Amino acid sequence: MTRNLIHGAALTLLLSACGSVDPQLVTRPADAPPFEADRTELVAAGEVLWKDANLGTSGLACEGCHVNGAQFKSTFKEAYPHKVAMAKSMADLESIDASQMVQFCMIVPMKAEPLPWSSRELAALTAYVEDVEQKSFQSK
Ligand code: HEC
Repeated sequence: MTRNLIHGAALTLLLSACGSVDPQLVTRPADAPPFEADRTELVAAGEVLWKDANLGTSGLACEGCHVNGAQFKSTFKEAYPHKVAMAKSMADLESIDASQMVQFCMIVPMKAEPLPWSSRELAALTAYVEDVEQKSFQSK
């Protein structure tokens, strides 16, 4: 447990030291509404992407860092939008929603382009994060 906590703090420091993120890259354009589909289908598609080590270029899946709620901080228990330390320190954003947080982790730890804002992929990962990962973290 202690080792995990130290690892988490070190990882956050490392990611924050890697530079800054243009807040525009994690801000939804007005002309790009979220993709809409049946919520259950989106969550199921999101779970597949969550486990996909080829989604970014870092060789890590989202789950690779976040297995069993690892790396999440207490802010993840709060309803979105909320403040996230990494988004504040790297993009100077005071508050971020779930789809923006997916984009943030795509750009920084996954070392990838942000997903298209109206893509099924972004809607699916966002739905999975909110309905599965956040609910499970809130109950810890
Ligand atoms: C290299 C490790 C790493 C990978 C891979 C990673 N993340 Fe993260 N993620 C983090 C860290 C570190 C934080 C904590 C940031 C903070 O609270 O300041 C975080 C936080 C989050 C949060 C919660 C922020 C909050 O408090 O609301 C979400 C949601 C999230 N990540 C989604 C994803 C998704 C989706 C992917 C895959 C596309 C992903 N992460 C891949 C390291 C990672």
